[in-house]
Amino acid sequence: MKLLVLNGPNLNFLGIRERGIYGTENYETLVTRLQEKAEREGHTLTVFQSNCEGELIDKIQEAYYDKVEGIIINPGAFTHYSYALHDALASVEIPKVEVHISNVHKRESFRHVSVTAPACTGQMVGLGLRGYELAMDFLTGK
Ligand code: DQA
Repeated sequence: MKLLVLNGPNLNFLGIRERGIYGTENYETLVTRLQEKAEREGHTLTVFQSNCEGELIDKIQEAYYDKVEGIIINPGAFTHYSYALHDALASVEIPKVEVHISNVHKRESFRHVSVTAPACTGQMVGLGLRGYELAMDFLTGK
């Protein structure tokens, strides 16, 4: 399958930012873990991170033209207020899983709302980096 993982703002700072919340593994470790899993299981995976909303939207639109078959997205803080990202996700009929490393429901109230989740097939929350792998299993039907 052709898969795309999108990570939003500050996720490139994994292992540096708020380690008590997001853990000590860095962004490169996450990317390597996902690339190795995809390769082992015979999937093609593109991983992209941006701190810019528009770049994430561009990737979602490209996914349509590139015939991507599954999207895993951690929109970071955009989760809580980006209607533009919601609309981009809603525009493409591709199965999509929203992932949050931390349990957003145990945190500040502004994190309890996801405006992007209604445009996704489902959501993985609070399972650490493992959430991305479980999302991949769901999309690939494993
Ligand atoms: C996050 C949760 C968001 O509230 C936060 O802004 C992030 C990361 C997570 O993976 O737990 O940047 O999406």
